[in-house]
Amino acid sequence: MSRAVRFWLTLSAVAVVLALVLALLASRPAESVTPVPPAEQTWGTAGIGDPDFPDAGGGGYDVQNYDVSVRVDGTRLTGRTTITAIATQNLDRFHLDLALGASAVSVNGASATLQQTGDDLGVSVVRTDPATPAIMAGATFTATVDYAGSPLDLAIRPPSAYSSGDELVIAGEPTSATLWYPANDHPRDAATMRFSVNVPTNVEAICAGRLISHTADPVATGRTRWVWLVDAPTVTYATFLGVGQFRLEQGTAKGRPFVYAVSERLPKADQNAALAWLRGTPAAVEKLERYLGPYPFSGIGGLVADVRFYWGGLEVAMRPVYNKRGVGSESLLFHELAHMWLGDTVTLTEWNDIFINEALASYAAWLTADDPARNFSVVYRGMAEQQEFWAPSLSNPGADHLFERVYDRGPTAVQAVRVRMGDEAFFSMLKAWAQQSGSRSLEQFRQHADAATPEDLTGFFTAWLDGTTRPEATKDNGVA
Ligand code: TRP
Ligand code: ZN
Repeated sequence: MSRAVRFWLTLSAVAVVLALVLALLASRPAESVTPVPPAEQTWGTAGIGDPDFPDAGGGGYDVQNYDVSVRVDGTRLTGRTTITAIATQNLDRFHLDLALGASAVSVNGASATLQQTGDDLGVSVVRTDPATPAIMAGATFTATVDYAGSPLDLAIRPPSAYSSGDELVIAGEPTSATLWYPANDHPRDAATMRFSVNVPTNVEAICAGRLISHTADPVATGRTRWVWLVDAPTVTYATFLGVGQFRLEQGTAKGRPFVYAVSERLPKADQNAALAWLRGTPAAVEKLERYLGPYPFSGIGGLVADVRFYWGGLEVAMRPVYNKRGVGSESLLFHELAHMWLGDTVTLTEWNDIFINEALASYAAWLTADDPARNFSVVYRGMAEQQEFWAPSLSNPGADHLFERVYDRGPTAVQAVRVRMGDEAFFSMLKAWAQQSGSRSLEQFRQHADAATPEDLTGFFTAWLDGTTRPEATKDNGVA
């Protein structure tokens, strides 16, 4: 080795060592010599991020539980709700949804500032340490909101507040919860819930969930407090408040506690018919379990009101709410109960994913209360010439058309996928899907179905879900 070479080698070695030492020094945590400047204010977004419903929900937190406490006097409501949530980012400010007027808010027990515009409720939290965000990412926090108002005065479309005589019902989709409690009102954020409703003793207060107690108000005479519990996470649109004179039937069926409620405003014969029909619930749940696997909730039930709902039924957790005109309909009963899995437990990511709720719940009703092959033919052949019927795509109905073709073309597409996959693959795919919990997308459903068969379903789904014309009658499209 020449001296020149050795010289250069030594020099490079020294350089390498020097670089290492410098790198080590640089990677050491900075000692707090200079004071850290106050971290910037971090705000959760005003919506959860649904392109069709930009204002729905809020960003930066994940609700774990709603503890809702309301007092109802006629059509006026006074409430205090405590939300327990986990911050998914640092937060100095976050947004809830509430249509009633808020008067005070506290976070972790300390008073916070509220700013309400329409049904958006901004909450600003005061920092205890000026250099640290008020709520740190990953922290569990509580927000307690005091509020009051008359839900019937707040016109929303489609309507979600109804009254008939002294009966008041708040129920609806996609928006209803904000008419009686503050919420991250979007199906992407499911949570457990406790509802405590204080009413005069001459009326009952019915909610989602299991009935925990109804006891005399400890202070005010002539008032009762009803407590209901939803102990598995569900979505805010699957809750409701029903106050009025309801005839209740309670008990345990096949090991599950039930509460059926029928409005006493209905003629006696109609009340009896409604109750007789609701008593079919345990058997219907058992039949659905064959296709969807074990029932996901700890209780069952149903309610038939006197008010005239905009829809036939709503999949309230553990207690579907039915339109009185739907009484006696097997397929309505099965449809709403199928939602206990499909919608209330396997929830949406965006409202535009509605197919995974309504097409699958409708198909479950086809299986249990109907004849799927016959129904397929009624739609596929019966509507063959109706171009406008096939024009809206099922994968992108948009905010104003969410609840339309998904009820008829939806289950028709599901029957086609069954024919395409074969019964064995289809039924195990369906059950596995229904046994999940948490938010899912239509895209995930396509992948889930595709993974359940060696065949490639890409073209099939393009034709049935993205298409704007009737899928061709081919074997690949599942048309036998
Ligand atoms: N999701 C309900 C069902 O089919 C129906 C429903 C509730 C609805 N609210 C609606 C349909 C608003 C259209 C518009 O089980
Ligand atoms: Zn439905």
